[in-house]
Amino acid sequence: MFSFFKAKPMLDSYQLLGLDLHSHLLPGIDDGAKTVEESLALIRRLQGMGFNRFITTPHVMADLYPNTPEIILEKLEVVRAAAREEGLEVQIDAAAEYLMDEAFGEKMAAVELLTLPGNRVLVEMAFVSAPPNLDQYIFQLQTKGYKVLLAHPERYLFFRDNFKRYESLKDRGVEFQMNLLSLVGYYGKPIQDNALRLLKAGMIDYLATDLHHERHAENLERLLQEKKISRLLAEYVQRMKNQLLA
Ligand SMILES: [Fe+2]
Repeated sequence: MFSFFKAKPMLDSYQLLGLDLHSHLLPGIDDGAKTVEESLALIRRLQGMGFNRFITTPHVMADLYPNTPEIILEKLEVVRAAAREEGLEVQIDAAAEYLMDEAFGEKMAAVELLTLPGNRVLVEMAFVSAPPNLDQYIFQLQTKGYKVLLAHPERYLFFRDNFKRYESLKDRGVEFQMNLLSLVGYYGKPIQDNALRLLKAGMIDYLATDLHHERHAENLERLLQEKKISRLLAEYVQRMKNQLLA
């Protein structure tokens, strides 16, 4: 029997997100872009996928990348100038991705943190376990008037078997930012499954690239080609708050 089948829409670019609020595009200060040329190449590539605005977020880690607002903002100016010179029409700003390590509490008390719009602080945890003082950090940040945005919750597999931990964070007003790369299986199947679960549970507020290098760009492009995932994304992407931040 002949039946009319209406194909579900697929996502063929990231234009609906518009703003990418998590990436490592500033040269030489973390494990992202190494040179200004590389920064520009990555930005061009992301533009090609539909992003038109970037708030890039270098790592801030006491041990590995002790970046300060001064270091970050200085590099931002270098990239902005290079982009202008190349005629790239792009809006690029910077915030940071703060690791909630032992030094974070002190840092938070002593310096003004770099934030995303809405006074949001992008924070991450180590991938082995939650910081012992996680609840205290969240409370401290909120008391200081910041909104807490947790980077890639799907990658913290220590929360996967205790889904209530996610729910409890959401209940306390913590927002979640998922990495697009998790959906394409870039970090492995368990993280991909966890990402799908969080997405379907309606717990994800923002999608971002967390782009560090060319390999990430290739996988972000691949995601748009994968029918199943890009259909699923088309369904959810409209609910994301990326544009509201812009
Ligand atoms: Fe990151």
